[in-house]
Amino acid sequence: MTQKRASFGSKFGILMAAAGSAVGLGNIWRFPIETGQHGGAAFLLVYIAAIALLGIPLMVAEFFVGRNARTNAAHAYRKLSSHPVWRNIGFIGAISGSLILCYYVVVSGWVLKYFVVSLDGTLGGLFRPGDASGYESLFADFVSSSWSPLLYMALFVLMCHFTITAGVRQGIEKLSKIFMPALFVILIVLVGFSLFAPGAQEGLSFLFHPDFSKLTTRTVLSAIAQAFYSLSLCMGCLCTYASYFGKNVNLVNSALSISVIDTLVAIMAGLIVFPAVFSSGINLESGPSLAFIALPGAFHQAFSAVPWLSWLVSTLFYALLVLAALTSAISLYEVPTAYIHETWHIRRSRAALLVTVVCLLLGAVCSLSMGILGDIHLFGKTIFDFLDYFCTTIMMPLCGILIAIFVGWIVKRDVFLKEVNTFGPNPTDAAQAGRRWSTVILFLLRWVAPVLLLLAFLGVLGII
Ligand code: PFF
Repeated sequence: MTQKRASFGSKFGILMAAAGSAVGLGNIWRFPIETGQHGGAAFLLVYIAAIALLGIPLMVAEFFVGRNARTNAAHAYRKLSSHPVWRNIGFIGAISGSLILCYYVVVSGWVLKYFVVSLDGTLGGLFRPGDASGYESLFADFVSSSWSPLLYMALFVLMCHFTITAGVRQGIEKLSKIFMPALFVILIVLVGFSLFAPGAQEGLSFLFHPDFSKLTTRTVLSAIAQAFYSLSLCMGCLCTYASYFGKNVNLVNSALSISVIDTLVAIMAGLIVFPAVFSSGINLESGPSLAFIALPGAFHQAFSAVPWLSWLVSTLFYALLVLAALTSAISLYEVPTAYIHETWHIRRSRAALLVTVVCLLLGAVCSLSMGILGDIHLFGKTIFDFLDYFCTTIMMPLCGILIAIFVGWIVKRDVFLKEVNTFGPNPTDAAQAGRRWSTVILFLLRWVAPVLLLLAFLGVLGII
């Protein structure tokens, strides 16, 4: 007896799940750091261009492969080609996605810890005007200790595990339909507070007034890497989710809506972070520690006249990060789970258990690389930093080039156009309506994405 394949239940559920994958720590934690380090508005403009020219076409390409093949990412490409290069794109992406998961859960564990210490007032208690040493030692002691980060990471992994075992509709879709609207509400409330912070004016001008003298090759490369990371591209997540889409779903519109939501959330995160940062005079280039050292102080400084408000803003901010991290992590979790479930024909819950065990083990290694395993270096980087560099800077653009060439040149044009133009209750009308946009996407996949990505990749390798 063949088992009926899982699917999402509604278009809203699809939008929330896919947007949930995209909106994550990348938007709220990584985007303000990258923007801060690369000059603000000029970076934002290049980022938006990267989303439009590379992100949206590649997202449609992944949706096309997933919905056409209706199987997990690693097998999906095999259904479309038997050539050794093309048939393995999905597998390579799935392995990279699984590696991202292993360090993503570590940072998600930190976020969970900071939610707790904000809620119980510890962060507020450490506030001293103009002195961040309390926050510095809290963070340094926490990440370099052995057990505490492991405990929070394990807690986070269990949350993912139970969501995934509940299934595509009852787990992923249900959770996304509740968490994503909650995330938007928190975001809007926080932006509202932030616009009244003393540094609001400076924060806004940093984010919206471009200084093109800040534009360098490095800015462009970072903007492309950030766009890929933020949209969850090329790691098998979107392809796997699309395999649960119905034929009535408009792939181009979905990609457009998800990209717009993702970019808006990133900009709103900037609107929350930069006013707080400017009002407390923090160095914008403080890097990854921004969310854990600089921001707690910045929130308390910005609202120091009303202590309960600084507690509320800080607690809501970490709640926001937890929600965002969870909906993204489950999309990464789903990739190996669906693969193991469909390849080895074992129950979904068993497949998820296996993923959980491996994720806990590799996650522990990443976490400990901040402490007792800190002396182990791969190519001059700690294990944690190496995985992040390898997955986002090498694998994402590389898989992006392969996907663009595969869908743009190798797959038959008619197969692509037919799949992408099939949507709505009456696919024939829809085919006419959607044709123009799908040909634009195909053009970008053929001519623009491979060239820009190749240049970016050579730039990363230091060749140009
Ligand atoms: N897009 C997620 C974020 O912005 O945090 C991270 C991510 C999820 C990257 C899934 C890659 C991926 F496949």
